[in-house]
Amino acid sequence: MTQPSPNLTLSHLVEQRRAAGEPLVNLTFGEARLPVLPELAQQLAAGAHRASYGPVAGAEDARGAVAGYFERRGLPTDPADIVLAPGSKPLLMALNLAADGDVLLPRPAWNTYAPQVRYAGREPLAVPVPDVCGGVPDPGALRGAIRRARAAGHTPRLLVLTLPDNPTGTFAPPDLVRELAAVAEAEDLLIVSDEIYRDVLHDPAAPFLSPAEIVPERTVVTTGLSKSLGIGGWRVGAARFPAGPRGRAVRDGVVAAASEIWSTLAGPLQQVAAYAFAEPESVRTRMAAAARLHGAVARAVHARATAAGAHCRPPTAGFYVYPDFEPLRAPLARHGITGSASLAAHLLDHGGVAVLAGHLLGDDPAALRFKAATSLLYGDTEQQLSALRAEDPTALPHIAGQLARIEEAFTRLTKGPGPHRNRRSS
Ligand SMILES: Cc1ncc(COP(=O)(O)O)c(C=O)c1O
Repeated sequence: MTQPSPNLTLSHLVEQRRAAGEPLVNLTFGEARLPVLPELAQQLAAGAHRASYGPVAGAEDARGAVAGYFERRGLPTDPADIVLAPGSKPLLMALNLAADGDVLLPRPAWNTYAPQVRYAGREPLAVPVPDVCGGVPDPGALRGAIRRARAAGHTPRLLVLTLPDNPTGTFAPPDLVRELAAVAEAEDLLIVSDEIYRDVLHDPAAPFLSPAEIVPERTVVTTGLSKSLGIGGWRVGAARFPAGPRGRAVRDGVVAAASEIWSTLAGPLQQVAAYAFAEPESVRTRMAAAARLHGAVARAVHARATAAGAHCRPPTAGFYVYPDFEPLRAPLARHGITGSASLAAHLLDHGGVAVLAGHLLGDDPAALRFKAATSLLYGDTEQQLSALRAEDPTALPHIAGQLARIEEAFTRLTKGPGPHRNRRSS
């Protein structure tokens, strides 16, 4: 727990090596690498005068805009039930501090959930995801895990769902969400539905169901602007709490933690939030273009993984793929690749491609799985703009070149050391 987040650490190391001239392809970090929308920069500048400490939960205009954002997604919301924060990450931490009991997580899951649970003095209880998608525990496995956890003296009370999911780039179909909501009801769990990728569906018409639509009284939804608008460094997150006494108690606990940790979202960012969550035309157009780009590039990396022999759920949201090289276990073992750590190390050393090994996301260390974050492939600011506009971004030379490197690294996995090592030593 004293280690920094592995994705941040690894991405930093890879960027240092790239700066030193190594031709590495970086697939370690889930940053949406897109130029800042000019209208957002204008709002940030216009909000500079908002220099006083604001209300802990967020300014009225920002909370109102977030409430409207949820209403447009089928969730009638009182602005009093909204809390803004510098990113959704601190909100998730505050939820761990405010709610009691142990925390059920999908396995694999975003690498921050489990350390946050431990920082709060609780136990993370990881439950495998189903074949169809990531981000949610398999309902049957969830029921079994709750039974066993209670028998072992744990008190599972929180269920974290990632809809859509990092690391698999997929989202649970509505029927599965309904089944999980029923388990939460039967077992009296509070659901934390992390919907930070909600606006990065590759097909905007795909049916998306939030558990807050089914069990509103027991679902907290978190979201933010980091992924949909690519402004992670600005740190804008929001949470929607259930109406009613139970939701109000959790909200008050989060606001109390916030008041002692971050006080309030920075004033200029309240102005950005008020603008962005109201979703004017400029924001809607950018979010749609970004989702198209993320989908095209994620599908291209998925195609290269499956062509190399991996199993991989087709990505439907976000900018991730999560291949499983199990079908190649025997040939990979001949090259000393027997689990996620050796698989990731081999791809880096021999293929020049940096990925995040599955065990760093709570997955079985013996499994041959990793996360590839595909949004770092868009290049510099000018290249990102052309990628956003392109009919087929995967055909742009800077993206096509990196896809070719990925293809070579994946297909060479079973063929021993490739040219990357030679390039480094020459
Ligand atoms: C699943 C998930 N939740 C939450 C976050 C945190 O986002 P932020 O703190 O920038 O709102 C991330 C960022 O990587 C994420 O992937």
